[in-house]
Formats: sequence, structure tokens, C-alpha cells
Amino acid sequence: MNSRNFMQPYQFKNGLVLKNRVVMAPMTTMASFFNGQITSDELAYYALRAGGPGMLITGVAYITERGKGFEGQLGIASDLHLAGLKALSKTIKQNNTKAILQIFHAGRMTNSKILRGMMPVSASAISAERPNAEIPEALSEAEIHTIIENFAHATHRAIQAGFDGVELHGANTYLLQQFFSPHSNRRVDQWGGSFENRTRFPLAVIDSVKKTIESFAESPFILGYRISPEEFETPGIRFQDTLKFIETLTTSGIDYLHSSIGHIGRIPLNEGHDQTPIIQQISSVINDRIPLIGGGSVQSPDEVQRALDKGLSLVAMGREFIREPLWVQKVEKHDENSIRYRVSEVEMDELKIPPAMQIYLNESFREVMDFTTDNTKPNDRYLRQVAPMEGYEKKL
Ligand SMILES: Cc1cc2nc3c(=O)[nH]c(=O)nc-3n(C[C@H](O)[C@H](O)[C@H](O)COP(=O)(O)O)c2cc1C
Repeated sequence: MNSRNFMQPYQFKNGLVLKNRVVMAPMTTMASFFNGQITSDELAYYALRAGGPGMLITGVAYITERGKGFEGQLGIASDLHLAGLKALSKTIKQNNTKAILQIFHAGRMTNSKILRGMMPVSASAISAERPNAEIPEALSEAEIHTIIENFAHATHRAIQAGFDGVELHGANTYLLQQFFSPHSNRRVDQWGGSFENRTRFPLAVIDSVKKTIESFAESPFILGYRISPEEFETPGIRFQDTLKFIETLTTSGIDYLHSSIGHIGRIPLNEGHDQTPIIQQISSVINDRIPLIGGGSVQSPDEVQRALDKGLSLVAMGREFIREPLWVQKVEKHDENSIRYRVSEVEMDELKIPPAMQIYLNESFREVMDFTTDNTKPNDRYLRQVAPMEGYEKKL
């Protein structure tokens, strides 16, 4: 008990201070309006969960119409989204929780129905290895530059809307990852081929976002980057490629790196011989040069502390904050016995889970939610297999 430090403040190098080291992981609510505007259902969901964690990362927002990934996704593609985004940042920033907006372009991980007739785009015209995946259009040189600008404009809007930072969603198979991946990127120009060329797009996005922050942010504003450690297609990103990329990202000017895995203790799944946990290997490469955020199946205060003790700077919890919005407040009140680790379907209204998100959790994500009526499953099921929340369906 005495050696716990997760409730102590954390200061980023740029001066931003978090009141504790607990982060709510980004989770899409599927509950925005058809045009990407925030809804009052979402504001109520975030209001209940804000105030406890040091930092809350929003569900991912699309930066341009053609980059929209799901129905009911939040948008930051137009100034028309600003009013709603201001309400969102104000809602999250209660009781000194910092508000980080996650942003992305879905690339090929969307479809022409969601895009209202437009075809998805990606680095190359290669479809994802998923049922019913459409063949995306390969981006032209000019379109690549426009998307880099779209990321900068979205960041400017996030600053105007009062957020404390943005997180670039370079994980879970979306466009930033698609450029790095030798599966989705078969280009033979400066944006594809060698390691240097495949990292050019993510680094150009980081650069343009950084310049935007330098030009417009009047108080410390954070730039985070989320990565997935490996892909399962051949060709595809292997963990050793990711470690090399992390070395590059560490010196790229980002304020933190955030790993996306379904279990904090997971080992690389593509490398049979490698038994060293992913987080431990990433942490060794970073070597304290920038903060590392990690998580995956973390639920209890002891698990949060163990994760910090293993070299993480901040610990992110996703599903646990859906089930238990008052996790931090209960720890503060020494009332840990009342923290809930399972959720009943009939509690979802009381927990302010938007109806559209309830459908999603009940259907697409049912197996990951651990409803009280489900058979008990061990919480370590994503230790040796990829989790659906990582954007892959493959079970190893
Ligand atoms: C309903 C739901 C929506 C999610 N949406 C996002 C998202 O928008 N962006 C993202 O990076 N990860 C997303 N994730 C993944 C989580 O951020 C997190 O990495 C994953 O759930 C594992 O952590 P956990 O075991 O603490 O839930 C989502 C997960 C869930 C359950």
C-alpha cells in the first residue's frame, strides 16, 4: 500500500501536470450525430468518467470526411464541429482531469457506405485481409500532402476547442499504420519501400502537428502517438520493425508514446522464441527519454501499480472505466472493495453508456465486456492472443 505512487502527480517535459497517473483509454462511443457532432448522450458519458483520471483520451475523431471510420464517429474535420468539441473539452476538464483528443484517418479500414459513396483511400490499392474489405484508392502525392494538412487543421481546432493535447492514432490498423505497413504500403515513390520511406508519412504528420502546436497553443499542449506492436498479415509489420520505429518516434518530438495491446503482459505473437513482454521491450528502447503509456486488461489498483513498477509512466484503462466510472474516486476514499469489475446489462443506463454504444458493447464487443450474466472468463485471455479492441479478428 505504502509503495503505491499511481495517485501522485506526473509532469510532462513541456510543463503539463497530471494530478495522477491513471489514464482513461480512448474508446469510441458510436454515439455522435451522423455528421460527426457530439451528442448530449456522449457528454453525459464523459461527464460521469471525468474528474477522476489524471488524463482522459477521447474516442477517436476523424480529421477529414474521407477518413471517417465508423457510423456515429466523432468528427474534427470542419469548423462546424468546434462548438460541440468545446463542450466536450469543458466536460472532461472538470476537477482537473486533462482532456486529450485522439485523431485519425481510417484509410482502408472503412467502406463506401460509411463514406456515403466515396471509396476508401490508403497508401496503395490493396484491401485489408478482412471479410468484405473494399479495394481502396491509392493516394496521390497531392492527396498525401492534403491529409498531412488535415491533421494540422484538426490540431488547430483541438487547441481552439480547449483540449490539453492530441493523440495521433497510429495503431489498430488505421492510415498512419497503413503507411508503415509493408502489407498496405506497396508504393515505389518516396512514401513507400524502405523503412525510411514507410515512416515518412507518420513523421511528416508529427512534424506538421508540432508546428501547429508551436504556432497556436498558448499553454502546454501535449502530442501523443499510439502504436500497435505487430501485424499478422504477410507481409506485415513485425515487432522488430516496430522497435526500430519506436526509436525514431522517441526522437521525433512527441510528448509520449502509447502502446495498444489487449493485455499488458503480452509477448510478441509473431516471434515464437521471444518470451519478453512487449511493454518491457518498448520500455528498454525508449529508456526514459519520453513517457510510455500502456495498459490492456488492467483493472485493479494493484494491477495499475504493478504496471507502473514495470516501467510505464502512466497506466491506461479502457473497459474498466466503462464498468467503473468512479474508479479513482473510490481509491481516493479508500473504498476499493466497491470497485466493480463486471457490469450488468441493466446497469448500462445508470452508467450513462449511450444507447448506441450499448448496442455495440452487447453485440460486436460482447465477448470482451464480461457482463455479469456471461460465463466467467479469466482476465488473462489476451495474454497470448490478439484482442478484438486492437483492430484484428485473428485469434492465434
Ligand atoms: C468500446 C471500445 C472502443 C474503443 N475505441 C478505441 C479508439 O477509439 N481508439 C483507440 O485507440 N482504441 C480504442 N479502443 C481500445 C482501447 O483504447 C484499449 O486499448 C483496449 O480496450 C484495451 O484496454 P482495456 O483492456 O483496458 O480495455 C476501444 C476499446 C473499446 C472496448
